[in-house]
Amino acid sequence: MSLRGAAGAEELIFYVNGRKIIEQNADPEQMLLSYLRKRLHLTGTKYGCGGGGCGACTVMISTYEPASKKIRHYSANACLLPICSLYGAAVTTVEGIGSTKTRVHPVQERLAKCHGSQCGFCTPGIVMSIYTLLRNHPEPTSEQMMEALAGNLCRCTGYRPILDACKTFCKESVCCERKTNGKCCLDHKDDLFDKEAKVSTRLFSTDEFQPLDPTQELIFPPELMRMAENQPKRTLFFHGERMTWISPVSLDELLDLKAAYPKAPLVVGNTTVGPEMKFKGVFHPIVIAPARIPDLNVVKCTDDGLTLGAACSLSLMKDILTNAISEFPEEKTKVFRAVLQQLRTLGGEQIRNVASLGGNIISKKSTSDLNPILAASNSILNLASRGRKRQIPLSGIFADGLGNNAITPEEILVSVHIPHSRKGEYISAFRQAPRRENALPITNAGMRVLFEEGTDIIKDLSIFYGGAVSTTICTKQTCWTLIRRHWNEQMLDEACRLILKEIALPCSAGGEEVDYKKTLVVSFFYRFFLEVLQSLRITDPCHYPGIPMEYRSILQDFKTKMPQGIQIYQDIEPNQSPQDPVGRPIMHQSGIKHATGEAVYIDDLPSVDGELFLAVVTSSRAHAKIVSIDTSEALKGAGVFDVITAHDVPATNEFYYSDDPEIIFARNEVICVGQVVCAVVADSDVHVKQAAAKVKIEYEPLEPVILTIEEAIKHNSFFEPKRTLEHGDVDQAFETVDNIIEGEIRIGGQEHFYMETQSVLAIPKGEDKEMDVYVSTQHPAIIQEMVAASLGVPANRIMCHVKRVGGAFGGKLLKAGLLASVAAVAANKTNRAVRLILSRGDDMLITGGRHPFIGKYKVGFMNDGRIRALDAKYYINGGCTPDESVVVAEVSLLKMDNAYKIPNLRCWAYACKTNLPSNTAFRGFGFPQAALVTETWITGVADKTGLSPEKIREINMYKENEQTHFKQKLDPQNLMRCWNECMEKSAYYSRKTAVNEFNKQNYWKKKGIAIVPMKFPIGLGTRYLSQAAALVHIYTDGSVLLTHGGIEMGQGIHTKMIQVASRELNIPMSYIHFCETSTTTVPNACASVGSAGTDVNGMAVKDACQTLLKRLQPIINKNPKGTWNDWIKEAFEQSVSLSATGYFRGYNENMDWEKGEGQPFTYFLYGAACSEVEINCLTGDHKNLRTDIVMDVGCSINPAVDIGQIEGAFVQGIGLYTMEELKYSPEGVLYTRGPDQYKIPAVCDIPEQFSVSLLSSSQNPYAIYSSKGIGEAGLFLGCSVFFALRDAVTSARNERGLKKTFTPNSPLTAEQIRAGCMDDFTEMVIGSLLLWISPVEHAAE
Ligand SMILES: Cc1cc2nc3c(=O)[nH]c(=O)nc-3n(C[C@H](O)[C@H](O)[C@H](O)COP(=O)(O)OP(=O)(O)OC[C@H]3O[C@@H](n4cnc5c(N)ncnc54)[C@H](O)[C@@H]3O)c2cc1C
Ligand code: FES
Ligand code: FES
Repeated sequence: MSLRGAAGAEELIFYVNGRKIIEQNADPEQMLLSYLRKRLHLTGTKYGCGGGGCGACTVMISTYEPASKKIRHYSANACLLPICSLYGAAVTTVEGIGSTKTRVHPVQERLAKCHGSQCGFCTPGIVMSIYTLLRNHPEPTSEQMMEALAGNLCRCTGYRPILDACKTFCKESVCCERKTNGKCCLDHKDDLFDKEAKVSTRLFSTDEFQPLDPTQELIFPPELMRMAENQPKRTLFFHGERMTWISPVSLDELLDLKAAYPKAPLVVGNTTVGPEMKFKGVFHPIVIAPARIPDLNVVKCTDDGLTLGAACSLSLMKDILTNAISEFPEEKTKVFRAVLQQLRTLGGEQIRNVASLGGNIISKKSTSDLNPILAASNSILNLASRGRKRQIPLSGIFADGLGNNAITPEEILVSVHIPHSRKGEYISAFRQAPRRENALPITNAGMRVLFEEGTDIIKDLSIFYGGAVSTTICTKQTCWTLIRRHWNEQMLDEACRLILKEIALPCSAGGEEVDYKKTLVVSFFYRFFLEVLQSLRITDPCHYPGIPMEYRSILQDFKTKMPQGIQIYQDIEPNQSPQDPVGRPIMHQSGIKHATGEAVYIDDLPSVDGELFLAVVTSSRAHAKIVSIDTSEALKGAGVFDVITAHDVPATNEFYYSDDPEIIFARNEVICVGQVVCAVVADSDVHVKQAAAKVKIEYEPLEPVILTIEEAIKHNSFFEPKRTLEHGDVDQAFETVDNIIEGEIRIGGQEHFYMETQSVLAIPKGEDKEMDVYVSTQHPAIIQEMVAASLGVPANRIMCHVKRVGGAFGGKLLKAGLLASVAAVAANKTNRAVRLILSRGDDMLITGGRHPFIGKYKVGFMNDGRIRALDAKYYINGGCTPDESVVVAEVSLLKMDNAYKIPNLRCWAYACKTNLPSNTAFRGFGFPQAALVTETWITGVADKTGLSPEKIREINMYKENEQTHFKQKLDPQNLMRCWNECMEKSAYYSRKTAVNEFNKQNYWKKKGIAIVPMKFPIGLGTRYLSQAAALVHIYTDGSVLLTHGGIEMGQGIHTKMIQVASRELNIPMSYIHFCETSTTTVPNACASVGSAGTDVNGMAVKDACQTLLKRLQPIINKNPKGTWNDWIKEAFEQSVSLSATGYFRGYNENMDWEKGEGQPFTYFLYGAACSEVEINCLTGDHKNLRTDIVMDVGCSINPAVDIGQIEGAFVQGIGLYTMEELKYSPEGVLYTRGPDQYKIPAVCDIPEQFSVSLLSSSQNPYAIYSSKGIGEAGLFLGCSVFFALRDAVTSARNERGLKKTFTPNSPLTAEQIRAGCMDDFTEMVIGSLLLWISPVEHAAE
């Protein structure tokens, strides 16, 4: 077949939100996401990663199948969906289901009203996942709901409020299921609450919700139905700029095409081909889309199994297997069950809905979850090529993959036959991934054994592993050797040794992970061994005793359940005016707009005439001289306008905020991989990326290349100044203590993973060198300053505007300034508007994150647990430029004490200068690391004294009238209250007993529990950093326009500020509008950082409102019965100014580092968290069972917002301490550049029971309305999970008689948990028992 047959332009017909789209020039390279956003201006669907991993781009696709007359609705990731695949389909986006202009859909309404959005960037995707589920199941089960959300990431909320909204659609009861004392919380609420204060647990009212009415939904377009029914199916051709898409309708045609174009891939779900083209530079001039061919969609049930077409989606496969299981006897469905087991956690629902069975098999990725189990179970592939059909066992491909078993390029997979299981046959599948759901496996396996009838003698055995090397592997020799063996311990031992020998993982494949993979490989086999033993018992209990009771729990995998919990806060005073919103759980001011997709972020701003797109070109070397930059090929690229380098910067390219500069464009030398060297501007985002890839940079290596903290120490490479604090007489104290321990802990960095990547739109205004810069930043003033300095213009020509930010967490300060300067320089040179939206990969590569940390400690203490002396050193990896690293090091020193009085201490902090991308501020700013070091040695002291960690914590906690190590007084009364309430609410001691009991009864599963207190100081160290201003206008119609210097990045600051203004002006919130934060309205505003936004801006807003009210007072006094509008009208007529600024000078904070004393903080916030976990000792997997948090936030201005901040930060803390792992190559190249490689917590990671209580009757004289700043504090409490995990692993180790203390590093991943739970299998792999014990700890002992 030739392409000429369809040389004419094909019309692509599909529907979007009920509107017919006829695309004359459909480009096969165009994905639905960019089509929706750029072509149709439907910007509600968001870009979060572009690779199917985050769900921000979720839409609903509906198709009609004429044969069955059924409409199928399914969710899909628009970022991986080629528009050409949508012929005849209907697309529904978030705009299509509701809007503020028409009707807000119940999903949108409930998500917003349940406080399920913070920054709102993930919200449209979440809305569409829920909406699609409800289209298929109007009353879903909570299990279905959890499955539907597994593919959506939210970085802000911690998911609890999202799930609260979801529960309102589910059938089941919404009780908390907290069955302590056999009652649920709803039965005995009173017991949980502080007796004195009146508290509330209602954050929203379901009475307000509109009912879900499925009849109101958009119908499937009848025209598409007619098209599908009446139009004869014909081959479709779409020709793009570089690529041709061919969609045949018959198998013969497909085989012809494949013969003609053997290299052309078949694209069904595009979930393998798409990411390869986007991220790996693979290009295919022709792709063939076989999804419409009936043979590839067959579903056939035969006597010996099921045959499924290769184009069947994994979701369809899941449904079919689920049905088959209910229809066939259990004996026949063991393969189906095992395959289903894998399908449940494979990808997210959006991926499974489009990814095909054939694609999964044929891609032959080592991470395929289906290949090992399908191969082990003897599934058969039906292959075809022109003139030839054949069947081969899938196992054959992986057993040798040669000769008859090789699939030729002309061959296609038509269908797969999955056999029934037989009598005496046992089949299982296993997987372990960095996250339980929506994560590619680290290792997986499929295993099958067939016994000789009525015996436990192995007749046939097959074992396949995935994830271990570059493809699925078979342990053929092992299986062959074990034939005719009995299924017993000797066989197990031999099998493990043979397997390890046979699969011989290369040592270089990713460092220690190799040992982990090897351990998993044998652990999986052991689990299979146990499963089969237990099953044999069922067949013949007399012969086969099964496995011991304490082993049985390992046969159950952890399941994700709908979390339950309760949120408690102090109710408002009964006499508070009903109109006064302060203290009430008011919905986020943009909540509804987040949910309808109407909330505008930078990349949603409409394009400006002549606008250019910018892509950065970054260094591929960690330290090198730039020899040359060759832009010639790039400049020849289609649509390319220019290449911008350091030479184009009119004024400042290097900013000296300290000794070393922050750099816009590398000039002569690069100092990290990912440093911006130059930028390309072109007419489209596609062209600009293509051109950027063509810039050639030649380097000459420079020495030294310093990547790690150790290397920095060796080369004495630090940012100055180094800081130290000393208090008491440390040396003398060490002389007198009973015990001393020494140790160290490493804490890995953390990627901000804000859902909206760094984004800038710079628009030159054409006169007086004015420029508008729209930036996703938490510090507009620094953007203005840096852009003005780089362009060499006064700051008054640069207007920075920020409407809202899709998450920041500290990552959008200086880095945003540098990127804004890149865009501004380009805009200045080209005199065009320039849009710079970093791809997720570039964002992760370029912008740095939380500082990796090493804490070394020596602690002296008495036998009764009293800490007497501490000598500690903290090293942070600052990366290649200073940014805020020295300040982070300082804060580490100031906050390292956490909740404890340490009478004699000496500590140092060093900010290491390395050749990694520069690290920066991140929620908690050094505290989460420094305090983790402290909590680590606290547990070390507990281990040494034999006392419990909670006792050590209690003994050493601050008491009344004590001072910190820098001589600041504090009143720790609320610390004790939080601790005691947390103890009580979590029923700590009784649950600890239950945990111990569980651990006695379970060998391979262990539980752990930990409770951690927290003191979180609030302050920025110096007065000028906490000044704030506000501007309030009252218009003659009575409406109020409010602005202030704070940035809305999800933390609800604008909502709170409107609450403040509403109280002060005594008018309803609906009168008050917030438009944007801008340098034109509030100059010189400080960054929104350090949990201080509400405190300081609240004061300024209050000041402005009070000024206005003072002016209005005479008018009000004269006409007390008048309305607001009467007074305003009168004021205008009396020429009273209706506009006022408000100002707050800042807190009187100071720190004298020479003397080592000061008042760097204004007040302290306290909290405590208790977490319980369960671990699987064989795999290292864990489940967060329960967390109870008690937090002192003073008098909350908005409990829904504050609880949301606590939960969101806590879950981010779970990420930091237990799962998020940045990986670099030995050359300093970041490997983890997207959600596929870097796992942030998903819905499956939040505790099954998750409760938060705000401490009641807490006052704070220093902040607005006695509130406290809560943005950051909750993150540290995530370490309660870390210590609960440590507790569980310790329990396993104690049982195994291991004496050495388990001192994990952070993140405490599955790999570390598995290694900590040492047993015969780890020993078999490692060969030495001492390897997993921290060398320092070991030496100290
Ligand atoms: C975010 C994300 C998460 C994922 N998580 C997992 C996971 O946890 N576990 C897992 O196993 N997989 C996972 N995957 C991989 C996914 O399952 C596979 O990409 C998918 O099954 C491939 O199917 P497809 O239809 O999308 O393939 P496509 O990308 O359309 O095609 C893939 C390849 O298969 C070939 N091909 C397709 N059909 C045929 C056929 N009939 N005959 C011959 N060749 C054919 C094509 O030529 C092409 O080379 C994930 C993917 C993504 C993007
Ligand atoms: S943007 Fe599509 S899944 Fe992330
Ligand atoms: S609200 Fe979910 S990412 Fe911000």
